[in-house]
Amino acid sequence: MMRLNKSKEKIGTMFDEIAVKYDFLNHFFTANLDKRWRKKIIKQIEYFNFPFGTVVDLASGTGDMMAELLKLGPDKAFSFDISERMLEVQREKIKDDRLVILKADSEKMPLDDNSVDILTIAFGVRNFESLENSLNEIRRVLKPKGILIVLEMFGMAKRNRLFEFYFTRIMPRFGKLVSRSSYAYEYLHNSVMKFKTADEFNCLAGKNGFTLRKKENNFLKFVYSVYLQKV
Ligand SMILES: C[S@@+](CC[C@H](N)C(=O)[O-])C[C@H]1O[C@@H](n2cnc3c(N)ncnc32)[C@H](O)[C@@H]1O
Repeated sequence: MMRLNKSKEKIGTMFDEIAVKYDFLNHFFTANLDKRWRKKIIKQIEYFNFPFGTVVDLASGTGDMMAELLKLGPDKAFSFDISERMLEVQREKIKDDRLVILKADSEKMPLDDNSVDILTIAFGVRNFESLENSLNEIRRVLKPKGILIVLEMFGMAKRNRLFEFYFTRIMPRFGKLVSRSSYAYEYLHNSVMKFKTADEFNCLAGKNGFTLRKKENNFLKFVYSVYLQKV
């Protein structure tokens, strides 16, 4: 298994390299299910009646999660990411006066303390250099009782051979062919295999001042949406 380098520089460069092909490959590899998972998050926000005056999409990339958040009708919205190229794609896709799109990282966001109602991270936390520093920073910017929503491919508690075949044989080859990055789709598989399970992640969030409101299994008990509230 490859050694993972999650330095912000390495991760930022990797996403810069695949930015133009990212949306196509993302939707292709998930058979468009990723779109459904993001839409479900909006339904849950409405169901729980979470306030959404100010929303942030962190590790926002090409902006598919932000596009959904804007449908709620927030007053202010911020998309942050460390890859300028991913954000360039987002700027082309989303034109909205309420939205500020900025290069910023999960450990240092240009926002006041206690200023955000909802912060989403879709397929981002797995790539963070420091999860704990990021959780602390997210806690700082969220209002009391503010909501953190994480959609992620978490590590698996049990091995799944179908998953392993798809992720080790199909994805890296096709991903490389289309994106021309030999690293990115190998990294994807390895980063999922080595990442925390959803329960381990929730436990870490618990230690960093969040309480679990809901955990939703989207797919095969490894793609989850977790809803955490600032204590
Ligand atoms: C797999 S993409 C997800 C993009 C988007 N959220 C989506 O749902 O398609 C992961 C993104 O996380 C960003 N990222 C990784 N580490 C980050 C960090 N520490 N702070 C901010 N963004 C980060 C990457 O640049 C990349 O755009």
